[in-house]
Amino acid sequence: MVQGPHHIAIVMDGNGRWATKRFLPRIAGHQQGVKSLRRCVKACADRNVKVLTVFAFSSENWNRPKEEVSGLMDLLAMALSREVPDLLADGVRLVFVGDREGLSDKVKAGLADAERLTAHNTCIMLNVCFNYGGRWDIAQAAAALAAKQEPITELSLDRAMAMSHVPDADLLIRTGGEQRISNFLLWQAAYSELYFSDKFWPDFDEAALDVAIAAYNQRERRFGKTSQQLGETV
Ligand code: IPE
Ligand code: IPE
Ligand code: MG
Repeated sequence: MVQGPHHIAIVMDGNGRWATKRFLPRIAGHQQGVKSLRRCVKACADRNVKVLTVFAFSSENWNRPKEEVSGLMDLLAMALSREVPDLLADGVRLVFVGDREGLSDKVKAGLADAERLTAHNTCIMLNVCFNYGGRWDIAQAAAALAAKQEPITELSLDRAMAMSHVPDADLLIRTGGEQRISNFLLWQAAYSELYFSDKFWPDFDEAALDVAIAAYNQRERRFGKTSQQLGETV
């Protein structure tokens, strides 16, 4: 029996284009993106995925128009107050990953509350990468080690990273048609299986997730070894 992915990571891209295609403001696409995320969390939990990590706001997204950035901050606050009771009931543990220093006090408090309220849930962990960048994570981990005068090794760096509480992603999905990492899990995606979908994030439904998982299940993860070493005949 094939073991499905334990940890799925997703670059939720294409919200803006989804909205523009419908003559709607970009923020309407982001609102629809929250709904799609809610559906995806449920679908992942149903498929026994234990960790879901999503890219919600990158270090580089500050460069967007002011109204879009403030719209995204408001949406985060709104989504938290609306969705946390439901997530709590569904056994979802919420964790926010990223640089909190750049966020307003209101947003910071909202993140901390959501984490505290859901801390005991064990059905699925949802890591929301917000004001996150893979380069930021590597740099902050190195700085933390340097401050403690600890040696920098692969293991010590790995442990100092903001994603150290979970194993690396097995499957990394990007929706929206682009085939790039955009500063997502640079360190942790070293051996993730990559899957690109042309669907815009709001359209990425259970069926699309199943297609991605099926593709993952067909892959042979060799981690540098040969097929023969894995005991398979090709
Ligand atoms: C991804 O959708 C969500 C965020 C970056 C916040 P986009 O807003 O990048 O959507 P497109 O790529 O412009 O369609
Ligand atoms: C990546 O999407 C970031 C998130 C999904 C949050 P972008 O839309 O910002 O990526 P680029 O700029 O097209 O590479
Ligand atoms: Mg985009």
